[in-house]
Amino acid sequence: MADRDNEDPSGWDVATRLVHGGSLRSSFGETAEAIFLTQGYIYDSAESADARFAGTEPGFIYSRYANPTVRMFEDRLALLEGAEACRAQATGMAAVHLALMGLLRAGDHVVAGQALFGSNRWLMNNWLPRFGIEATMVPASDLEAWKAALRPNTKLVLIESPANPLLEITDIEGVAQLAHAAGAKVLVDNVFASPILQKPLMLGADVVIYSATKHIDGQGRVLGGAVLGAQALLEDAYRDPIRHTGPALSPFNAWVLLNGLVTLDLRVRRQSETAAILADRLAGHPKVVTCRYPGRKDHPQHELARRQMTGGGNAMIGGGTLIAFDLGNQARAFNVLNALKIIDISNNLGDARSLATHPTTTTHRAMTEEQRLEIGLTAGWVRLSVGLESAADLWRDLERALAGA
Ligand SMILES: Cc1ncc(COP(=O)(O)O)c(C=O)c1O
Repeated sequence: MADRDNEDPSGWDVATRLVHGGSLRSSFGETAEAIFLTQGYIYDSAESADARFAGTEPGFIYSRYANPTVRMFEDRLALLEGAEACRAQATGMAAVHLALMGLLRAGDHVVAGQALFGSNRWLMNNWLPRFGIEATMVPASDLEAWKAALRPNTKLVLIESPANPLLEITDIEGVAQLAHAAGAKVLVDNVFASPILQKPLMLGADVVIYSATKHIDGQGRVLGGAVLGAQALLEDAYRDPIRHTGPALSPFNAWVLLNGLVTLDLRVRRQSETAAILADRLAGHPKVVTCRYPGRKDHPQHELARRQMTGGGNAMIGGGTLIAFDLGNQARAFNVLNALKIIDISNNLGDARSLATHPTTTTHRAMTEEQRLEIGLTAGWVRLSVGLESAADLWRDLERALAGA
């Protein structure tokens, strides 16, 4: 296998990185990247196997450690993120779990925003304590609260911004400065923004996590995840846990995700543009109590969103592909969801199909009512993941559904 291009891909624009980045072409000269469905690799000699295991000869050993198709996906995503290295995982949750466990020990403390994806919250409240690790949850947009929660044994902070489901924004640069001064590492779950809109490493994060299941696939097909950061950090914290706990991404899924990356920039731009149009119309609709969209001036952290969701030099594209709106009560929210004909009801997001979710009865059902109220989540809220359909058709669908609510 030879590297496809002789020139340095770090000089390429985003669009070019997403088409050619990380490509490895075999001796067959295939146009599309190959799917290497292989568990293992053979060696020319016993000496070569010895050298491969010793790390003195480059090459693959076993697909739980690394695989050529998975490597292409990792390298393309790293190039997009501006990260030195990427390690792909079987799911987004495998990525979050690895990112936490690789950096934490018994006796450590973690700080995270209160508004977190349900499974991330479960890890904080139910899983980490089993290993003697304590977590403190703070209001995600309150910098003083992050500062006050840091302790001498705080080893990392976990940020999700925009957060699920009400799109609260955390000041990544501000929290990173506080965390680093306290000796803690900064992890950002960047799923909602996607690597097109937000570059946490440029804002001071140490590790960025993705559920590739969302925008990166973008077509509802495969699960996947990724952890990105500096090469040395990934080697120290994650190389052995990956090898010995086995969260490897399947090469087939890596191939689907590699091809998802090709169109990621186009999709996120278009979905974000449509979301901005729909958010304005929802905000002006008499049945909508509140519409929350980071690209709108009335979002409580709009200025912060504008500053940090700039695409890291990829030009400000907007407030993202997700909108949250409050219809006042659950009955109205259900009526609207049930009346939609183009938009599907689903707990997923980042898809080419627009998807509507009722968070309190699905994604955030495991939280107590008190915990939900802490983040302002009541039963009237609907989360809308805007897809690639036309804005006119989507608005017609929403308007008709709202009329009957
Ligand atoms: C913010 C966030 N992080 C992590 C995940 C987990 O990803 P996966 O479903 O790929 O495990 C999800 C969605 O499920 C999510 O919305």
